[in-house]
Parts: sequence; structure tokens; C-alpha cells
Amino acid sequence: MSIKVPSVTSRRLNQIPPSGIRKFFDLIVSMEGVISLGVGEPDFATPWHIREAAIYSLEKGYTMYTSNLGMLELRRELSRYLKDTYNLDYNPESELLITVGVSEGLDLATRAILDPGDEVIMPDPCYSAYNPCVILAGGTPIMVPTNEENNFELAAADVEARVTNKTKAILIGYPANPTGAVMSRDKLAQIAEVARRHRLVVISDEIYARLVYGVEHTCFATLPQIKESTILLGGFSKAYAMTGWRIGYAAANKEIIAAMTKIHQYTMLCASIMGQVAAIEALKSGEASTAEMAEEYNRRRLVIVQGLNDIGLPCFEPRGAFYTFPSIKGTGMTSEEFAEKLLMEEKVAVVPGIAFGQCGEGYIRCCYATSLAEIEEALSRMGRFVSKHKK
Ligand SMILES: Cc1ncc(COP(=O)(O)O)c(C=O)c1O
Repeated sequence: MSIKVPSVTSRRLNQIPPSGIRKFFDLIVSMEGVISLGVGEPDFATPWHIREAAIYSLEKGYTMYTSNLGMLELRRELSRYLKDTYNLDYNPESELLITVGVSEGLDLATRAILDPGDEVIMPDPCYSAYNPCVILAGGTPIMVPTNEENNFELAAADVEARVTNKTKAILIGYPANPTGAVMSRDKLAQIAEVARRHRLVVISDEIYARLVYGVEHTCFATLPQIKESTILLGGFSKAYAMTGWRIGYAAANKEIIAAMTKIHQYTMLCASIMGQVAAIEALKSGEASTAEMAEEYNRRRLVIVQGLNDIGLPCFEPRGAFYTFPSIKGTGMTSEEFAEKLLMEEKVAVVPGIAFGQCGEGYIRCCYATSLAEIEEALSRMGRFVSKHKK
């Protein structure tokens, strides 16, 4: 007779479902011939000169811990980059922290500022880690619906309507995962105005800043009188095809960076030195490779958006990141049914929109960081699938 052992996992953790993305990708590994428009990562290897810099550093014996904040040389390069790109001043000694990807940056930022019960306002749909990060930090996520009719932009009035005396922060990420939406400077300025009026911190995840097509990226911290209360999160995973190196950064005022560093020093200690050396090289001379990759993503973006519209999956035009978010409402299926059936019948992997929030239902996320040939084959298989299942 088996004895029932009481659950030992925390109640807080039990509030969080497992990632809706990973669930699918565990399934795919056992299948052959699958085209994946699933996981959001570049199909390029890290540019050679960046890999080479890291290899050379290993040859020289750079295999130790770095300062908790990250290598000073990297923080200096980053400070220069933020100055050159956005005309923002961050002191490399006290206002920049190198993190283990933006993932760690999100975890640290939420844990550093939240007390139990504090509310964090964020758009729905949004990147699947935002909601869990807030819950794990003891906070309460407050979702603001966004929709296709408004290009999945977050409206300042909708944010303000949800501010209570428990609201501590707004968490946004533009260009957006999963929709590819980019917000204009004016609309972001309206959100900054709400944040200022209610003295809220803004966590701005700008991991896709370098991947915009025909529009300008606005760095949130450049908006009037908002830098002091903004935690800018950035990283190397997407722009430099460096997902495996696990390097990101946080830029914020001294007090916030000190608080984030306090957690980081006990939990991570530091980001890997190899990754940091690679990031220095990326900042020093990665610009041309980034521009080349962005151009290629743009070519694929045009093909996939047109293709999805042609096969009857209407798709608003994403202006950033490397995702499209077509509507599947015409098929009458839920996004999970659609993704599962598409995988089983046509061997194309996409992510159900529901994995990104309630407002993602009725949509799927297709990542176009894969070759044009694969995109075209995926479109042809999806076209067949949609014709078969159209209501
Ligand atoms: C919006 C967003 N933020 C953060 C991350 C995590 O990135 P990193 O590899 O820097 O941890 C991702 C990865 O997909 C993302 O899409």
C-alpha cells in the first residue's frame, strides 16, 4: 500500500502553471520532420568574431568569477553603448548590473522592489515569464487587456484605470513577445505620465530593441523625467544570437541596482566570465552582424505576414522582434487545439496564444527566426491544414 506524501512544494509556486511553451517542445523532440516556428531564438550561430573572443579568453585562462556587478570593462562598454545609442548616462560603477540573461534581470527587478501583495500592471498577452516572476516575488500581476484592433499596444488610460493603492510597478516589453508590437514614443510617453503621476516604478524589458523594422525603438528611460524610476532590462540573446551565453543587464538608479545586486550576489554571484567577454566583443564590434541579421529577419517577416494572410490566418503587421501573431478564430479551435492538431497532422510547431495570457486566446505565435525555405514549407503545410479545418 502506498502512503500519500503531503506536497512539499510552496503554495506560491503552486499558483504558477508550467510553461505552455516548453510543454509543446518536449513533445517535438520525439518527432521527426517537424518545422518549428516555436521557440523564440535566432537560427544563427553567434557571429564568429564574438565566439573567437571568448575562445581566446579561455586560452588565456579567463575562467574565474568576476565582480558581482559584472566585469568593469563590460559595464564601461555598456555605459558607452547606452550613451551613444540613447544619450542616456548610467554610471558603470553603480548603475549597471550584468545579469544571467534578461530572465535573471526580471527576477531580480521584481524581487528587489516588491513587498507581499504589491500589484504590478502588465499587458495581456505578454511574455510568459512576467506573470510568474511577479508571483514568485510575492506580488500580484494585474493584467491589462490589449487587442489586435489596437495593434496590441498598451493604452495609458487602461493602465491608469487599474492603479490602486497597492500598485507598485508597471512591467512592459516592447518590441513585444508574443505579438511583435512596437509602441510609438507618444504612446509610451502617456504611460510614463501615468507612472509619474502615481509614483510607480517601470520595468522595461527591451531585449528586442535592436530588432525593429521600419520604425524607431523608443527606450523608455529616454522619456521625460522617468529615468530615475525606470529599470531598463536589456540583453544579448536576441540581437547578437547569443541565447546560450546567458548575458543580460539592468540599468537603473543606484539604490535599485544595489538592491538587485544584493539578491544576485547570494543567488548567482556573477554571470559567466566567458559570456561577459563575448558580450564585450559584441558591444565593441557586433553592430554589422546585428544589422545583417535584422535585415534577414525583416525579409522573412514580409514573407510570413503575407503568407499567413493569404492562407486565411489574418495577421496584423508586427514591427519588431521576430514573431507574428495571426488569428485562428476562423477555424473555431482553441489555440491549444490548433497548435496540437497542426503539430500532429502537418508537423509544424507553433505556440498557442493562451500561453501568453487570456487575451492571447484565438491566436498562435509563429517565430520567423528560421530559414526562408522552412517558412515557405511551413506556410504550405499550414495552408493545407487551414483549408481542411475552416469552419
Ligand atoms: C520578452 C523577453 N524577455 C526576456 C527573455 C529572456 O531572455 P534571456 O535569454 O536574456 O534570458 C525573452 C526570451 O525569449 C523574451 O522574449
